[in-house]
Amino acid sequence: MPFHGEEKIWVGVVAAMTIIFLGALAYAAWVIGLQVPGGDVQLVDPQKALTELRPGVREIAPGRYEVTVVGRMWQWFPRNITLVDPVEVKFRLTALDVIHGFQIVGTNVNVMVFPGYVAEITWKVPPDAKGTYLVICNEYCGLGHHEMYGFVNIIR
Ligand code: CUA
Repeated sequence: MPFHGEEKIWVGVVAAMTIIFLGALAYAAWVIGLQVPGGDVQLVDPQKALTELRPGVREIAPGRYEVTVVGRMWQWFPRNITLVDPVEVKFRLTALDVIHGFQIVGTNVNVMVFPGYVAEITWKVPPDAKGTYLVICNEYCGLGHHEMYGFVNIIR
């Protein structure tokens, strides 16, 4: 049955919306592809991330830490991060399976974590920051998403 009159208009509208929608998706993928994880793109094979990146806390100078965190459904490795008198913390983050979101509640540390990429963020730790901060996952990553948490303990 051929289209008539008003039907043609709506078919056109639907086609236009589909094109705009797919275009928006492609654009978003392009932007994400360019921006993750920022200017300093480092790639890592998710299969080897645990062994190659060696998750953990390293003090590289007094008060300066490098913390490597790997996320997977549904846990952060390491789950507990202890920092003594931290001034500056460079986080290096990746995921083994799906996208996770690394957030230290009550701070400005909030990073999307993609499998295959190492995201880096430097946290200038406020001098008055101390005690235990909750780490959560803020990207929905499946049934155990709400169980994906950890702690940053700051000792002064
Ligand atoms: Cu990991 Cu939500």
